[in-house]
Amino acid sequence: MDYEDLIAKAMEAREKAHAPYSHFAVGAALLARSGRIYTGCNVENASYGLSICAERVAIFKAVSEGERDFEAIAVVTEKGVTPCGACRQVLLEFGEDIQVIAADETGGYRVFALQELLPEAFNSGDLE
Ligand code: THU
Repeated sequence: MDYEDLIAKAMEAREKAHAPYSHFAVGAALLARSGRIYTGCNVENASYGLSICAERVAIFKAVSEGERDFEAIAVVTEKGVTPCGACRQVLLEFGEDIQVIAADETGGYRVFALQELLPEAFNSGDLE
């Protein structure tokens, strides 16, 4: 699976975004080491704080299907921004070396290692 294919899946998912309050549509596509892809979009709520990001929708879908091991996540927004801090932390739960592909709506993208986006992170090892 190359990055372009994963980005294309995230773009498709972005079309499903429910973002009537922010008008900021986000799509994500998460590639598990099994080879399966799980998509997500942001889902907002009239009670704003209940909204959820596209990345976490994709991660929770995947984990609830039994996946625990991930290779990469593509996130598509208008300008290609990187995931929010909460989503970085949720991704980190499943591996520091997940590749994060931040793509814009024209298909341009940047690739980051999750560790780069969340240095000195708190993780499960800190609970020991
Ligand atoms: N959002 C995401 O889906 N992912 C991010 O990484 C950043 C923010 C969503 C949440 C909300 O629906 C909208 O974008 C504006 O914050």
